[in-house]
Amino acid sequence: MDVKSKKFRRNNVIFLSALICIGTLVAALVLAIIGHKDATAVKKGPKTYKTVATGEWADAEFPRIHSTCNSTDVEFITQAFADTTEVTKYAKDVLSTNDSVVDSEVYKRWFGEGKLYEVLGVIEGLANVSKTSLLLRCDDADGLCKKYQNYYAGHHRESHPYETVICDYFYDSRVPLTEMCNRGNLTQFGPKKYYGIDMIHRYFHVPSISQDEFISEFSEDLEETLALAENNATYAVRNVDNYLYFLADLWGNKVKTGGCFDN
Ligand SMILES: *[C@@H]1O[C@H](CO)[C@@H](O)[C@H](O)[C@H]1NC(C)=O
Ligand SMILES: *[C@@H]1O[C@H](CO)[C@@H](O)[C@H](O)[C@H]1NC(C)=O
Ligand SMILES: *[C@@H]1O[C@H](CO)[C@@H](O)[C@H](O)[C@H]1NC(C)=O
Ligand SMILES: *[C@@H]1O[C@H](CO)[C@@H](O)[C@H](O)[C@H]1NC(C)=O
Ligand SMILES: *[C@@H]1O[C@H](CO)[C@@H](O)[C@H](O)[C@H]1NC(C)=O
Repeated sequence: MDVKSKKFRRNNVIFLSALICIGTLVAALVLAIIGHKDATAVKKGPKTYKTVATGEWADAEFPRIHSTCNSTDVEFITQAFADTTEVTKYAKDVLSTNDSVVDSEVYKRWFGEGKLYEVLGVIEGLANVSKTSLLLRCDDADGLCKKYQNYYAGHHRESHPYETVICDYFYDSRVPLTEMCNRGNLTQFGPKKYYGIDMIHRYFHVPSISQDEFISEFSEDLEETLALAENNATYAVRNVDNYLYFLADLWGNKVKTGGCFDN
């Protein structure tokens, strides 16, 4: 082998090493980008849960679930979505098929003289309006779950109007619709104790779902909620709690004659 070809081989080796180095760098960069994309993808989706909605609302778009929610959390939250669909679907069916529903005890109790078309519009909207703008997270981002342990099941983030934190207490304190009437009347064991209905309350904190507080918490305690229906139907059909109680009361009447508003 002459000097020239030796030099050529050495140059070749240097060239190859450099190529490998650059290749590794590029590969690392690509992996990093993919990794980053993955993280954002988890943060952004999924938004449709095929196992949750069926029938006319099979394509409903649900809130996004943040990557800080583990598989157990996601399973629970997905069940809450399913109950939300069930309870709104049932209400929609009753409201649109019973031509005397506005005279029923349950309707009167929560909406008084409120107009059927307004209530029906909100219920239909609740069922299928896109909720992907809402991000549910499980990381106690503001430390409020810890601060109000065994009290806060979750909270809307004032600083991020499209985010809601779900606290661990949510999983311990909230029950499925199948428990309706088993834990006491709706005065003791209110609508928000049912995870599907509590989730609806959380939806309404989001501007795109509340339509910039067209639906809002004008009253929160039971007496005020009942009074609103009796004296101020215009606002009863815009008040979150009137909807939550109505949905629970209606479901109670489905599972038990006379329901379980009281005993
Ligand atoms: C429900 O919403 C989805 C997603 O936005 C849409 O594709 C579907 O057509 C809607 N269904 C009804 C019955 O409006
Ligand atoms: C998910 O997190 C909760 C606490 O927030 C914990 O109790 C549960 O075991 C976790 N599940 C998994 C699969 O890690
Ligand atoms: C329709 O509503 C009325 C009350 O206004 C009630 O008595 C009746 O049982 C309801 N019918 C059905 C099929 O739910
Ligand atoms: C109805 O309720 C709304 C919201 O609380 C209030 O602003 C309004 O004054 C009430 N109207 C009547 C007639 O009481
Ligand atoms: C609900 O149940 C509790 C406990 O049994 C009772 O004290 C209360 O009066 C009931 N509420 C109504 C409205 O009947």
